[in-house]
Amino acid sequence: MGYRVVVLVSGSGTLLQALLDAQAEGRLDARLVAVGSETGSCAGVARARRAGVPTFVVPMPRLLPRGSAEREAWDREFADAVARHEPDLIVLAGFMKLLGAPFTDRFGDRIINSHPALLPAFPGAHAVRDALEAGATSTGCSIFWVDEGVDTGRLIAQVPVEILPGDDETTLHERIKVSERTLLVRTVNELAARHRQSGARKVRR
Ligand code: GAR
Repeated sequence: MGYRVVVLVSGSGTLLQALLDAQAEGRLDARLVAVGSETGSCAGVARARRAGVPTFVVPMPRLLPRGSAEREAWDREFADAVARHEPDLIVLAGFMKLLGAPFTDRFGDRIINSHPALLPAFPGAHAVRDALEAGATSTGCSIFWVDEGVDTGRLIAQVPVEILPGDDETTLHERIKVSERTLLVRTVNELAARHRQSGARKVRR
């Protein structure tokens, strides 16, 4: 039982690790039921395996254009793989592919993403670099409900992060990720509590 969470990753998986650590230490009021990816070689999938959390990979060996038949077939297959774990919540934790309608239509009210900027500022795949190039003096991180747009969904929580003189993309991103890890654990716990309170019946699709 419990609030079932599937986490999707593409990269190093340090946000996922924050959730895994919280679960191991009894600080997560939810259950990480699976971790999925489009690439089996990413460190995030290895972190899940080490923690004994089931993993699944639906490979996307080359970038399939959005809207193409091939991409929609991939979206459907990925959605099927996620659905097998009957998630109450899907967390994009450094998942770097845009999910198309075959995925978002199916889970649209249950997907959150963590983004390294204060949305609506600096959406997209290079938010940290874009903030530095724009000469911003502060940025931050955001957690939001995923819709079909690129980082356009309804905001859930944000934390500002100062940009320090001498910051480069690596140092700034690392400082943002420290905030993201805490915010993500807290947000999942809050959504789990809301779910319990509402007594919402899980929709199994
Ligand atoms: C995080 O900063 C996350 O916000 C970002 O990727 C990083 C993942 O780090 N996601 C995006 O930029 C999505 N647009 P991790 O692999 O160490 O968890």
